[in-house]
Amino acid sequence: MKISFAEPAVPKSGTLVVAAREGRTLTPFAAALDKSAGGALRRGMEASRFKGGKDDILDLLAPAGLKLGRIVLVGLGKVGEFDAGRAEILGGNLCARLNSAGVKAATIVLDGLDGAKIDEVLAAAHLGTGARLRSYRFDKYRTKEKPGKKATLASLTVMVKGASKARKAFVPLTAIAEGIFLTRDVVSEPANVLNPITFAKAAKGLEKIGVSVEVLTEPAMKRLGMGALLGVGQGSANPSRMVVMQWRGGAKDAKPIAFVGKGVTFDTGGISIKPAGGMEDMKWDMGGAGVVLGLMKALAGRKAKVNAIGIAALAENMPSSTAQRPGDIVTTMSGQTVEVLNTDAEGRLVLADALWYCQDRFKPRLMVDLATLTGAIIIALGNQYAGLFSNNDQLAKRLAEAGEAVGEKLWRMPLADGYDKQIDTAAADMKNIGGREGGSITAAQFLQRFVNKTHWAHLDIAAVTWSKKDLPTVPKGSTAFGLRLLDNFIAAHYEK
Ligand code: BES
Ligand code: MN
Ligand code: ZN
Repeated sequence: MKISFAEPAVPKSGTLVVAAREGRTLTPFAAALDKSAGGALRRGMEASRFKGGKDDILDLLAPAGLKLGRIVLVGLGKVGEFDAGRAEILGGNLCARLNSAGVKAATIVLDGLDGAKIDEVLAAAHLGTGARLRSYRFDKYRTKEKPGKKATLASLTVMVKGASKARKAFVPLTAIAEGIFLTRDVVSEPANVLNPITFAKAAKGLEKIGVSVEVLTEPAMKRLGMGALLGVGQGSANPSRMVVMQWRGGAKDAKPIAFVGKGVTFDTGGISIKPAGGMEDMKWDMGGAGVVLGLMKALAGRKAKVNAIGIAALAENMPSSTAQRPGDIVTTMSGQTVEVLNTDAEGRLVLADALWYCQDRFKPRLMVDLATLTGAIIIALGNQYAGLFSNNDQLAKRLAEAGEAVGEKLWRMPLADGYDKQIDTAAADMKNIGGREGGSITAAQFLQRFVNKTHWAHLDIAAVTWSKKDLPTVPKGSTAFGLRLLDNFIAAHYEK
């Protein structure tokens, strides 16, 4: 979908979208339009439930006195609460509505935002971004499109006073949207297409925008002693990989910040095999790595003034005659040994080596990992919040605030010595399961044993990586949850 910006004017034909505030107060532009339409907007509002609330939307067809085929009236809600997030939601909802009405091209005029939390020009850029994010489709494998399901909206013009400034503000937002689309693409791909090797190829594609990309193969990881990651992948015909991405947009000598993603390209559970029902969901068990990949693209795309490392820990967890068995003991890169009592608790194993490698090689200021790590976090928090674990209060606070700001919310969970004891075992330094009680917490305690003294946070995104229903700026499917949050976190604290 093409999004453009222009100065406000009444178009000669097609669909025009104008706004009203809470309480059926038309914006100045909408009020003037209402006048030329002989009061059609006002009568329409009064004959309907439309109150100008933030989710209100009203279609008026072929209004008398105008050449336009359709006027859509959208609610701004309480203008004092209108911010970037609300602008994106408005854009997203509008995109969905125009598509379901079969509209091909539309123009929205954004005005009357005096007293809002964001200025009109920025709001226009965010509105365009929301529409773009909602327009995403993963339909490359559909050879027969169902008529009526096809997205019709091909262009959206956002009219605002100061359009050239809006166009400028839209540039970095476009880079973020492109990062999100890359994440959604790789996470949506089925596991017969996306495996550690093809993921690494996708990462290599970032070299042309200035990201340096290294790919560690199995022999290289063996030399480094990554027994935990290699153990997870040893049952698969698809070899494991570790991808190391670097974006250097900050000062030459500034210590980097690092992001590490779980990239299990398919999780059958291994020999501790999962039940058949719903197992197809485990194609998105690389969602954390997908976000790290898209984040690197976004940072490079908007030339972020930061040094950032992105690591994807990639393996496929399969049962076979070469697969690791329950009871196997593996030695991690850190030297610590792990008794693998359940081969389905594999995410923590691939992350153990990736986290250790990351802090050992890069000495980062901080590390954040993202992982579809536990079913238990879905039980604990549902899909409204992702789980946040951290060994540092300031880092936890900054992440939670960034999440609130972009609508990717985090809920902090505890870490404590008592939970840590749950993963002690007689045969080795630790076991990879801690029992049913506090399952997400013991998984985080396991990771913490591999971060050394580095400031670290772990985001358990198992419940939020895939959405079963459409959300305002996220069509159902891969959400890229975490990318927006981390981009905001970086922009707010690490680009100065
Ligand atoms: N990838 C799963 C976690 C998961 C479950 C993600 C559902 C998304 C949706 C992870 O590898 C896993 O299997 N975890 C086990 C751990 C258990 C064996 C200790 C779980 O949560 O059941
Ligand atoms: Mn698993
Ligand atoms: Zn998994």
